[in-house]
Amino acid sequence: MKVSPSILAADFLHLEEQIEMLNESKASMIHIDVMDGVFVPNISIGFPVIEAVSRVAKKPLDVHLMTVDPQRYVNRLRDVGATFMNVHVEACTHLDRTIHEIKEAGMKAAVTLNPSTPLVMLEEILEEIDMVLLMTVNPGFGGQSFIKYSVSKIRNLKNKIRERGARALIEVDGGINSMTGRLVAEAGCDVIVAGSWVFNSNDPKGAIESLASL
Ligand code: DX5
Ligand code: ZN
Repeated sequence: MKVSPSILAADFLHLEEQIEMLNESKASMIHIDVMDGVFVPNISIGFPVIEAVSRVAKKPLDVHLMTVDPQRYVNRLRDVGATFMNVHVEACTHLDRTIHEIKEAGMKAAVTLNPSTPLVMLEEILEEIDMVLLMTVNPGFGGQSFIKYSVSKIRNLKNKIRERGARALIEVDGGINSMTGRLVAEAGCDVIVAGSWVFNSNDPKGAIESLASL
C-alpha cells in the first residue's frame, strides 16, 4: 500500500522536522491540503508553504486543492513543485480541459470526488486520469469519522478500472486509521491518505509503516 501522510495534522511550528521524518519513513508521497474558505468552510495552507515543503521533501507532493476554480492554479502549482494536482470534480466546470492542462504542465492529473458524488461523473474521462481521490469524509477538516458507505464505492471503482483496463490509482482520504485502513485496502485502494492518525501518534513512522504494510 502506498501512504500519503497529510501534513494538515502536522506541527506547523516544526514543519521542517516533520517533513524530514516523512522523508525517512515508508511514505510514498506527501499529501498537502489547500483550502480556500469557499469550496470548503476552512482555510489551510497555500503556495508559500508548498514551496517551502518542496525544498525539504524527498517524496512527490500530492496536492489536494479544495478550492473553487482550481484550473487557475495549474502553473503556480507546478512552479512550487507539485507532482500530483488533485482537483475536485464538483469545482471544475470544464474538467476535461483542466485535466489536459495539468498534464501539459508536466504534473499528474488526479480527480477528487466528495463522498456523495457518484462515480458516474468519471464515466467519460476515466482513461485520462492518473489518480482518483475518493473522499471518505466531507472535505474541510482533519480528524473526522470515516463514512462507511465509501467502502462499496472503492470496490465499484476498482472493478470499473479493471474492466476498462484504465491505469488510474485509487486514493482514499479521510478518517483513516488501522481499522478503516484495512477496510479500504481490502476494497482495492492503492494509496491511503492519513493525517491525524499519523501525526497524533507517539510513533508516526511506525503508524505509516503499519499502513504501508496493508
Ligand atoms: C480533509 C483533508 C484530509 C485530511 C485527512 O479535508 O482532505 O486530507 O487531512 O485528515 P484525517 O486523516 O485526520 O481524516
Ligand atoms: Zn486531502
